[in-house]
Amino acid sequence: MPDPIVLKTIVEMSAWSAKALRKDKSIGFVPTMGALHAGHKSLIDRARKENDLIVVSIFVNPTQFGPGEDLDKYPRTFEADEKLCTQAGADALFFPDRKEMYHEASRTYVEVGGLQDVLCGMSRPGHFRGVATVVTKLFNIVRPTRAYFGRKDAQQLRILQTMVRDLNQPVEVVPCEIVREPDGLALSSRNAYLSPRERKQALGLSKTLEHCKQAVAKGERDAMKLIGAMAEMLEEEPDAEIDYVAIVNAATLEDVTTIAGECLAALAVRIGKTRLIDNVRLNA
Ligand code: PAF
Repeated sequence: MPDPIVLKTIVEMSAWSAKALRKDKSIGFVPTMGALHAGHKSLIDRARKENDLIVVSIFVNPTQFGPGEDLDKYPRTFEADEKLCTQAGADALFFPDRKEMYHEASRTYVEVGGLQDVLCGMSRPGHFRGVATVVTKLFNIVRPTRAYFGRKDAQQLRILQTMVRDLNQPVEVVPCEIVREPDGLALSSRNAYLSPRERKQALGLSKTLEHCKQAVAKGERDAMKLIGAMAEMLEEEPDAEIDYVAIVNAATLEDVTTIAGECLAALAVRIGKTRLIDNVRLNA
C-alpha cells in the first residue's frame, strides 16, 4: 500500500477534496485525535468498503479538553499512526496544527442543547461543544460523503447525528460497533495510561455492562435495580471511582425508569487517574 498523502494546511486539504469531488469520487472520513488502535482501523476498514477515497484526520482538539484534563499528556504517536493509516489503505491524512485549525480570535462554537449537558457533559462541561465545533470545521474542510464514528463514544455519536440533522450538514454519519480486547475491554487511546493492576480493574466496566445486558435478557426492566447492581459490581474494584452509571433512552439520552424500546446502559469510571467510558445497547 502507498503511504497516504499528508496534508497539513486547510488550503491543501480543501484542494485535495475539491479535486476528488470534481471527479465524482465519494470521500469516507475518519476524524481522530491520533494514538490510533484497532478500533480506529475498523472505522477506516469500513470507510474503505463504502467509499472511493479515505481521509483520516489527526488533531488533538484543545477545545474539547477542560482545565486539568489530559490535553498536554494525550498520546501523540504520529509515525505509528501514519503506518496504521498506510496499512488500512487511507489515501490522505489531514494533520493540521492548532494555529491552522483555530484562528487566535476564534469565537464561534457549535452547541447541541440538552444532549451535551448530560452523562459525560456533567463532569466535562464544554467538552461536547468543542467536539461539535471541531467536527463541523473538519466537515467544512474535508467535505466528506460519509463520516465514521465509534459507538464507544455513544453520546458523541448521538450529538453529531443531531448536529448534522439540525444544521443540514451534507454528510452521512455512520455509526460503527465498539471494538474490544479479547477479554472485553473496549479499545481506547486512554488505555495506554493504565498500569497492569489498573488494566485488570478496567475490565470491571465491560463485565458490569454484560451483566446488565444479561439481566435485561432475562426479563429485568427496572432501571434503578439495574443501575444499583452495576454500581455494586463496579465498587468491588478497589481503584474504581464512579463518575456515572446510567440507563438512558438511546435517542434522547434521558434517564429511563423502565427498559423499553432502545436504551443504553452507559458508564464513566475513573480507574486511578484514567477516566474510562463504555456502554451497551439494551433492547427490551
Ligand atoms: O472521538 C474523537 O477522537 C474526537 O472526539 C473527535 C471526533 C476526533 C473530535 O476531536
